[in-house]
Amino acid sequence: MSQQTPSALVVYESLFGNTALVARAIVRGLRAAGLDAHRAPVSSLESTGSGDIDLLMLGAPTHAFSLSRPRSRSDAVRQGAPPDRAESGAREWIRSVSPDRFGTSVVVVFDTRVAKVRRWPLAAGRTAGRLLRRRGFHLLRKPEAFLVDGVRGPLSAGEEERAEHWGQTIGAAFLADQHHRS
Ligand SMILES: Cc1cc2nc3c(=O)[nH]c(=O)nc-3n(C[C@H](O)[C@H](O)[C@H](O)COP(=O)(O)O)c2cc1C
Repeated sequence: MSQQTPSALVVYESLFGNTALVARAIVRGLRAAGLDAHRAPVSSLESTGSGDIDLLMLGAPTHAFSLSRPRSRSDAVRQGAPPDRAESGAREWIRSVSPDRFGTSVVVVFDTRVAKVRRWPLAAGRTAGRLLRRRGFHLLRKPEAFLVDGVRGPLSAGEEERAEHWGQTIGAAFLADQHHRS
């Protein structure tokens, strides 16, 4: 754990841009809580860097009740998503990460999903949490869901604000925890 302002990295997958907006709002909230927060698309391990992060967050859209796969991302492209965003996803990214790589084992996960199935437990966040635990990460919280009105979005009313608030809550909880540990 560094002596300076604790840092957070929000890594996200987003085919249509909705999860990216949630990630941006979460970064605002984390910053408001006092963390040095940044975000990066999941498209490559290079893009998300490594080393010396205190809190890692991962967000992904729900595809077929789970994390995306190459075929579901192609499906999203057929529905209008930019092809370059379909090259890789959170599932592939998780395979290449470890607590050592980021200098932290603390992770928080979120997903986006369509509003009408919001209470359905099988979604991207749950899969991401399970796979990250297998890689040695520890989930600070249970996964959170943010809602979109349809496959391409937009985010449902109030979700961006909720994401910002949630980011602030996570940031504050993380800092309080860190305080207790030191
Ligand atoms: C192939 C495909 C499968 C999907 N399956 C689900 C699903 O099982 N449950 C759900 O709630 N949303 C599902 N969706 C909707 C996505 O969750 C939605 O597109 C996503 O949250 C939008 O986020 P993004 O703009 O960041 O890609 C699916 C979308 C696609 C393209």
